[in-house]
Amino acid sequence: MKFFRRFKILGTGSFLPEKVLTNHDLEKMVDTTDEWIKTRTGIEKRHVASELQAASDLVREAAKEALKNAGIAATALGAIIVGTISPDTMFPSTACWVQKDLEIPGIPAFDISAACSGFLYGMDIGSAILPAIGKPILVAGVDVLTKITNWEDRGTCVLFGDGAGVAILAPTDEDKGYLSSIIGADGSLGELLVQPAGGSRMPATHETVDRKLHTVHMKGNEIFKHAVRTMGDAAVAAIEESGIPPDDIDMFVPHQANNRIIEATCKRAKVPLSKTHITISWHGNMSAGTIPIAFHDAVSKGLIKRGDKVLFAAFGGGFTWGASVLVF
Ligand code: UT7
Repeated sequence: MKFFRRFKILGTGSFLPEKVLTNHDLEKMVDTTDEWIKTRTGIEKRHVASELQAASDLVREAAKEALKNAGIAATALGAIIVGTISPDTMFPSTACWVQKDLEIPGIPAFDISAACSGFLYGMDIGSAILPAIGKPILVAGVDVLTKITNWEDRGTCVLFGDGAGVAILAPTDEDKGYLSSIIGADGSLGELLVQPAGGSRMPATHETVDRKLHTVHMKGNEIFKHAVRTMGDAAVAAIEESGIPPDDIDMFVPHQANNRIIEATCKRAKVPLSKTHITISWHGNMSAGTIPIAFHDAVSKGLIKRGDKVLFAAFGGGFTWGASVLVF
């Protein structure tokens, strides 16, 4: 095996807020049915952050678990990277709020805005800067999309949930790390999935709030077509660049926005569904939080073991995408 970048994932962790919203709960809120949501997406329930919980609160809890599993103290970390599009505040970054909570001032901390691809962007960039940092790097994916959801829009409100996942990367000489990693973007398609207001293009006014322009606006159907093609192509390219045949992939952990997108990606990448970790039914689409939570779930259940080859693939607003083959 030829390694693109060597690093070891010392530990993983995740955190989902306590409150659960089922499809049946949503039936009472908008014109939808449990049957429609399940058959069109695969989602049965999602976790929803409380009024007091922000992105960094979720990351802090996931980080504590990941540090425990890694067997290191927070003071051993050399950097914090957080993929998110629902930060605590426009600034400071969520990574800085996490750093405050972990009480480890001094090390670099920054966010990456790449929507659903945020965790794979974080892993790619984290592994690239690891030799310069020389100490373990905490990479998180988190989103609290229910805070920017229009609860009157059945086309979006049934899809999203909240959660955070963390992986701690460390330098290693072992045969572990990336066989391949691809990240990419196409900004010309940004309008299809956007939170229009709240930035410098459209600062907050009474009107933007009244028109619900601070919530997710999505052309679901068009995104679906792009997602199927782009996520599939990225997965195929990552496998090709890894130099191993698709049969050698032990587990595929895809971004989970829709079961039908996952199935189409598996078909394109020639990875069977039986080797694909699908968790969408119990948490919905948590954007950057989805992949690290599903990854941690597979690791903690023993479905991914040391030495296994894991394929990741994501697609999200921007548009952005990422795919990688990693030896765990
Ligand atoms: O995270 C990465 C970025 N996001 C995604 O990857 C999401 C990609 N898109 C999707 O997953 C799918 O497009 C959705 C799940 C959002 C929608 O599924 P679809 O099969 O593309 O449905 P559609 O938008 O074509 O709508 C079909 C019908 C429409 O009714 P008519 O026009 O056929 O009468 C919608 O109004 O379903 C209707 N509909 C609903 N019905 C019940 C839309 N949302 C709902 C709903 N409940 N929640």
